[in-house]
Amino acid sequence: MSEHEIKLQSHDHAEGERACMSRREFLLAGGAVVSVTALSGVPGLAQGAAQPQYALKANYARQKVGQLSRLVQGKPIQFNYPYAHVSNILVKLGAPAGGGVGADGDVVAFNLQCPHMGGPLHGSYKEQHQVLGPCPLHLTTFDLTRHGMVISGHATESLPQIVLEVEGDNIYAVGVLGLIYGYSRNVANPASA
Ligand code: FES
Repeated sequence: MSEHEIKLQSHDHAEGERACMSRREFLLAGGAVVSVTALSGVPGLAQGAAQPQYALKANYARQKVGQLSRLVQGKPIQFNYPYAHVSNILVKLGAPAGGGVGADGDVVAFNLQCPHMGGPLHGSYKEQHQVLGPCPLHLTTFDLTRHGMVISGHATESLPQIVLEVEGDNIYAVGVLGLIYGYSRNVANPASA
């Protein structure tokens, strides 16, 4: 095989690897820029830097949701965010997690509505496996150490993750990664969602 052919084969292989990038990797790599329309005029969204209109991460008003010193490993606490009727859990997993905060990088928060058809995931956290589920409707289970990735079941989307920040002992929710069930886009005004 000539040197030229080897280079071409190597190029094709690299292209193939890019094509095989998973949807999750794509999103986490910042590839979720579906539109580059700035959202500076949308109420409640972070102002300033141009945000894609349909990006899967949305910044919402910062809200305190817990304290590191009060979290007990494996025992989720519930909070509502970014709207009063949207339920989520905050939990210390005991294992490092994507998007995890705190000294051990294991404190995460997730929405409690299944992204498949809205099944309620309340009370389904499994401490021994750091998963949420199975959903009572079609049995989807989500891995909370991997940004809510689907492990099994009918859902095709990861569970929306609440983006957290820590300041001192306080834990704040600052945004949502993914689309909460029932919303057609990530905006801060439910009336227009
Ligand atoms: S609604 Fe949860 S798996 Fe279908």
